[in-house]
Amino acid sequence: MPNRQTSAAKSPPIRKTYDCPPTLDDNGVLEFCKKGFLLLEGVVDDDTNKRTIDFVDSNPGMEPLEILDEEWFVDSVIKNPQGAGAVRSLLGKDFGIPILMSNHRIQTPQPAQEWHVDGAAKFGPELNYLQVFYLPQECTREMGPTELLPGSHFLFSNRDAMKQIGRIRGSFYASAPAGSIVITHYGIWHRRSESTVVSLRNNLKYNYWRRSAPKRDWLTDPEFDVATADYTSPAPTYRQQFRDTFDSAEMYLWLRGDHEKFDLIGGQAWPLPGRRNDLPYGIPKGVR
Ligand SMILES: [Fe+2]
Repeated sequence: MPNRQTSAAKSPPIRKTYDCPPTLDDNGVLEFCKKGFLLLEGVVDDDTNKRTIDFVDSNPGMEPLEILDEEWFVDSVIKNPQGAGAVRSLLGKDFGIPILMSNHRIQTPQPAQEWHVDGAAKFGPELNYLQVFYLPQECTREMGPTELLPGSHFLFSNRDAMKQIGRIRGSFYASAPAGSIVITHYGIWHRRSESTVVSLRNNLKYNYWRRSAPKRDWLTDPEFDVATADYTSPAPTYRQQFRDTFDSAEMYLWLRGDHEKFDLIGGQAWPLPGRRNDLPYGIPKGVR
């Protein structure tokens, strides 16, 4: 007869999911597709920001995993209504919450980091996880905020080639007030920008995960029209002309659960921008 105590050994941990109301509408979702990130300024309350700084001051390592056991942190940061609402919009219902925590804690001033994409990035229209940064303290331009290249989540480059690149025209500095959350595509080009003042900068980083099939269940906008929406990424895109519109449109349709309807006939057809006196040719069938 089996030993019941032995067979009832400790259960393996269960990855937790969370659900909450979505906060992005069609234009918000498409904005993420075009840029590869969203900045939510000052969405976490001051008390939580202070408690987080106290926590990382007492746990100054690069991976303060234990903060995920703190209910106040999970409720106010991981399940922050604005942050999690944007994640819910992009990753669907019952998304997986972080199981790993990093803190980019650094004494400034420092030179800029090399441009890079974090290892294990996948490129394509699918969006199955998000890389998120939480700033418990204000990060000014002088403190070396994360620098992001809009639209680069579609742009593969070898890390060894990227690190030779210095300043890039069109980059975005995520300087922001305390309590800000930056939601990014894992494949976005980024780096810590150069800093010029003395500070101790904390920047917490974690991932969320898709656990449901893509579906248009964010705040749908009845005025939004797939045929005439603007799929253009911010310039400069450093890519073939209009490649950004193709990729943004494909990702947006994938997120709606309509990827099999995505098609390109080329030329000046959908989804290219342009002044027209009629609807564009090549609109995907069955998505309007
Ligand atoms: Fe990085």
